[in-house]
Amino acid sequence: MEINTILSGDVRSVLPALGDNSIDCCITSPPYWGLRDYGHTEQIGLEKTPFEYIKNLLVVFLEVFRILKPTGTLWLNLGDSYIGGGRAGKSGHAATNGIEQFRIDRGLNYGQPTGKIEGLKPKDLAGIPWRVAFALQMAGYYLRQDIIWNKPNPMPESVTDRCTKSHEYMFLFSKGRKYYFDYKAIQTDTKGNEWDKRARIGRKCFPTDKINGIRATGYYPKANKRSVWTVNNRPYHAAHFATYPPELIIDCIKAGCPQNGIILDPFFGAGTTGVVARKLGRNFIGVEINPAYVKIAEARLQQELGIFL
Ligand SMILES: C[S@@+](CC[C@H](N)C(=O)[O-])C[C@H]1O[C@@H](n2cnc3c(N)ncnc32)[C@H](O)[C@@H]1O
Repeated sequence: MEINTILSGDVRSVLPALGDNSIDCCITSPPYWGLRDYGHTEQIGLEKTPFEYIKNLLVVFLEVFRILKPTGTLWLNLGDSYIGGGRAGKSGHAATNGIEQFRIDRGLNYGQPTGKIEGLKPKDLAGIPWRVAFALQMAGYYLRQDIIWNKPNPMPESVTDRCTKSHEYMFLFSKGRKYYFDYKAIQTDTKGNEWDKRARIGRKCFPTDKINGIRATGYYPKANKRSVWTVNNRPYHAAHFATYPPELIIDCIKAGCPQNGIILDPFFGAGTTGVVARKLGRNFIGVEINPAYVKIAEARLQQELGIFL
């Protein structure tokens, strides 16, 4: 199996060629439902209902399940959508204010279908991330954690009857009950009320540090990483609208994939997973349906890493 490569095509036709139990980890962000048009007839994300969308994702992630090693994990970044949002662009709504224009500029040019969707009303939050999570759980994955990606710089919204959405999910799934998870690799430094003179596991106390008037000497203990991750959104300034920030996936890679292991990203986009994987000494396999995005990812890998694909 070739590694550090991008496979061009529909993920549903590409993944069957990959071997069973061959990948350490999958880290990915599929198109969110009804949000963006990625310019390909076979793309996932523009289904008429959330249920068709979930069915398509299920097909993909059942293949991923087969390809993952028994100790493998899936880190799935998903955001939610509203029913019948009637966005600018194809939905017919004119771009009349700065926010709508901003959305079009960012590729948010797709309006969700406003027809009847069983069990859901216009304005309902679709609850897509959890629906997908439960579907994958039913399909055999262990749903291990709902990590909240807290975005201090969320997309502006012109709403007046709810809060501005400023979070997404990063679900952690495992293939088996026991799996590779290097929790030590993502532990954080603390500055709590305790220190340890001998352990030498955390940050060294500063000579000026005092706790309850007593001078702290030695080391602060490390703490396990928590489940709310605060990461600024940082779009990649090439012709791809929906990249995740590299900082979001650094700890997924450190905890989820051993050195020299292989990470699969079935929705590769501009290749953020590949870039960060290589920087951290892991390998990648990317799949992307739009040849224009494959070119963008290749150019980025070359520019940031000097890799020629
Ligand atoms: C949210 S973007 C991924 C961005 C990526 N995480 C990054 O940081 O660059 C989703 C990508 O999935 C691709 N895609 C959509 N449907 C696909 C399919 N059926 N097979 C493969 N890729 C698909 C889109 O073209 C888009 O580039």
